[in-house]
Amino acid sequence: MNHTATQRLTGRRALVTGSTSGIGRAIAIALAREGATVVVSGRGKGAGEAVVEAIRATGGVAHFVRADLAESGSAAPELARAAAAALDGPVDLLVNNAALLIPAQSLLDVDETLADLALAVNVKAPALLTAAITPGMVAAGGGAIVNTGSLSGLAGNAVSALYGATKAALHSLTTSWAAELAPRAIRVNAVAPGPTMTDENASYHETLRSLAASTPDRRPGTAAEVAAAVVFLASAEAAHIHGAILPVDGGHQAVR
Ligand SMILES: NC(=O)c1ccc[n+]([C@@H]2O[C@H](COP(=O)([O-])OP(=O)(O)OC[C@H]3O[C@@H](n4cnc5c(N)ncnc54)[C@H](OP(=O)(O)O)[C@@H]3O)[C@@H](O)[C@H]2O)c1
Repeated sequence: MNHTATQRLTGRRALVTGSTSGIGRAIAIALAREGATVVVSGRGKGAGEAVVEAIRATGGVAHFVRADLAESGSAAPELARAAAAALDGPVDLLVNNAALLIPAQSLLDVDETLADLALAVNVKAPALLTAAITPGMVAAGGGAIVNTGSLSGLAGNAVSALYGATKAALHSLTTSWAAELAPRAIRVNAVAPGPTMTDENASYHETLRSLAASTPDRRPGTAAEVAAAVVFLASAEAAHIHGAILPVDGGHQAVR
């Protein structure tokens, strides 16, 4: 592989949560292709190690660190410590991507267990992980944080109230962290994907196609297209971009 002429993230130490599958896997692969050393993380050891192998097979550098972000407050600081150990230095590029994706449901079907889990994985975990990572990032001279939000957090939807609320919360954390961390040389942004096809949601691709049919691009996005936006927001090319919630949705959010 010869990417050196175009690599935008050489020397960066990245942690991507939820990178054992789907969009997160594409983000981890794209960051590594741009020269970052990447910690792949999630609950699935076999799936995570397969992502690491795929990165190494193309000349990239990656490590797997298992973490269950639904676990109590100890999971985030433990992941921060283990990632820094694997990377041989503090994380300077954090992608908060892991999430509980909730199938379409009525608000009447939300129970306490589901509400607690969705808030734990989609809101509490990124908040605690960012708090655990930030001191090291500041000590390293700064860095970038990119959160994976969602179109569902930008606009109402009759079948995803709880999930949308967690993503709206992540968007809010993004803009507040941008304000708080900019003076410490950390840029914080988010991507807000629309319906996005992954290997894992193959059984929903037809549904995603119909959801996207009336958008300007008239098709769902791909995981690689979301990953390209994350690479851009993480790179020096985005040096003047703080607190953006970048739709990667074929125009879905912008045009009714
Ligand atoms: N696909 C879409 O249409 C779409 C649209 C908008 C936004 N998004 C957002 O994009 C991100 C990725 O979605 P995706 O479609 O790629 O979904 P996915 O394939 O289900 O990936 C979810 C990732 O989160 C990890 N995860 C889930 N629960 C976890 C836990 N308790 N602890 C640690 N990791 C956990 C999973 O890893 P393990 O199973 O190994 O733990 C997996 O790597 C999410 O933030 C989602 O909200 C997706």
